Amino acid sequence: MSSEALAKEEAKDLLLEMPERRSRIAILLSGRGSNFEAIADAVESGLIPRAAIVAVISDAPDARGLAIARERGLPAHAVDRREFASRGDHEAAILRVLEGARPDLICLAGYMRVLSPQFVARYRGKIVNIHPALLPKFAGLHAQRQALEAGEALSGCTVHFVDEGTDTGPVILQKTFPILPGDTEESLSERILSEEHRAYPEAIARVLSGPEEES
Ligand code: GRF
Repeated sequence: MSSEALAKEEAKDLLLEMPERRSRIAILLSGRGSNFEAIADAVESGLIPRAAIVAVISDAPDARGLAIARERGLPAHAVDRREFASRGDHEAAILRVLEGARPDLICLAGYMRVLSPQFVARYRGKIVNIHPALLPKFAGLHAQRQALEAGEALSGCTVHFVDEGTDTGPVILQKTFPILPGDTEESLSERILSEEHRAYPEAIARVLSGPEEES
């Protein structure tokens, strides 16, 4: 075998031995962080395969989600909105953290700010969000209350790609279930949240695995 062919064979062997590259996930949150926990559990258990959480960023320094990230030994970053003169400066600081973390996917998990078009453009197709309603119905705040007040028979949650709008953008996955007689905003919110904890990891795994091969 020529030395060139030998080198090629060696390179092939090395590549085969190399652990598969992990998908890099960044999380943006503002509060409780229960969806972030569900994602972190799914990464640990392999439900989201070959992935790592490379940054957890919060605009609220006292967010429970941030404390949990620290407890779990994940890179936690407080980027306090109050420390910046403008929305643009605040986002620039978040973008700097993200540039260092090099995420393949950014998951909004209860992040309470609308991202600017410039931010969305920088990571187009790489930002996902979860919303406690069957979008396009009931975007924005208090989605569960909106659904109850509208007298809906069905509720659920939606995972979608983020575009310039509020809770718009292509849907990745929806989970639907009935609104029960006597449901209150609290009881409905609880049921939606536990459904979210299954839906979000499933949607992330789907996005990271790329488009399905046609058979
Ligand atoms: C969830 O209901 C999610 O749908 C919405 O914000 C809430 C976040 O909850 N976008 P948590 O912080 O993940 O517990």
